[in-house]
Amino acid sequence: MSFVDYSQACKIRVDNALKQQVDINSAHAKQLQAAAEYSLFNGGKRIRPLLVYATAQALGADVSHADYPAVAVEMIHAYSLVHDDLPAMDDDDLRRGKPTCHIAFNEATAILAGDALQTLAFSVLSQANTGLSAQQQLSMIQILANSSGLVGMAGGQSLDLEAVDKEVDLEYLENMHLHKTGALITASVLMGAHCYKEVSSNTLTSLASYAQAIGLAFQVQDDILDVISDTQTLGKTQGADIANNKPTYVSLLGLEGAQEKAQQLHQQAIDALKPLGDRACHLVDIANYIIERTH
Ligand code: IPE
Ligand code: IPE
Ligand code: MG
Ligand code: MG
Ligand code: MG
Repeated sequence: MSFVDYSQACKIRVDNALKQQVDINSAHAKQLQAAAEYSLFNGGKRIRPLLVYATAQALGADVSHADYPAVAVEMIHAYSLVHDDLPAMDDDDLRRGKPTCHIAFNEATAILAGDALQTLAFSVLSQANTGLSAQQQLSMIQILANSSGLVGMAGGQSLDLEAVDKEVDLEYLENMHLHKTGALITASVLMGAHCYKEVSSNTLTSLASYAQAIGLAFQVQDDILDVISDTQTLGKTQGADIANNKPTYVSLLGLEGAQEKAQQLHQQAIDALKPLGDRACHLVDIANYIIERTH
């Protein structure tokens, strides 16, 4: 199956699984429910679910088991974007070509929608009758919790906010990007791996190296696109990093330096997959896509 067809099939699959979970958890708070659904179904690329499915498939796991971590990581990601766009953070009014959640609803509702999506993710991972063993579910919960919180995305977002209007070095920037973006990308790959019961520690090590490289490359490309793309293609305001005086790979290394960095990380990712052989073909395609993407 071509990469385009595969990624499209995964997108449809996770959208259906997300709808199912949202339906099961339908709330009395209609405004909050609407804000959560608005933030989940407003046109994301679904790259993190794609990583969950492609990793599970590379190891020969049952694809239906991968629905749970695919849904959970996309819920955490959606929550992270809703909060990232708030006035207290990046103060953005456009996301995925539409008004951000706090503009479409209001700030308090956006904060609550983020909170609700975050806890719903863990409810999805801990539910009964998934076909996964309790140990697999616990491993996934641990991976997702760590990658979302203090030592993951939230920690990275804090480093990002602390760095506004300051000069930071490359080490700081790399650490910030690895946390704010890399952590959830790594979690996607590792949760996908745990869909297979007997995943070996060698395989986990190879996959973790791959994930770390593409996670960083993903944010390097996000920084590049903020400079070279346009608002319509991006679906979010072009130039927002410069306007907010954020340190980025482009601001530290220049455009060419950032592009070179993305290429190096891509190579590292491909090298890390070598022990997995042909089974990892979709993961190779995802690494290519991450540095070639235009939005
Ligand atoms: C945007 O992530 C935020 C970053 C971590 C750079 P995506 O580019 O995956 O956003 P969507 O989900 O496709 O909108
Ligand atoms: C966001 O990074 C990373 C998150 C954890 C949400 P950015 O602030 O660069 O993401 P965009 O550019 O707004 O999508
Ligand atoms: Mg941000
Ligand atoms: Mg932002
Ligand atoms: Mg950005």
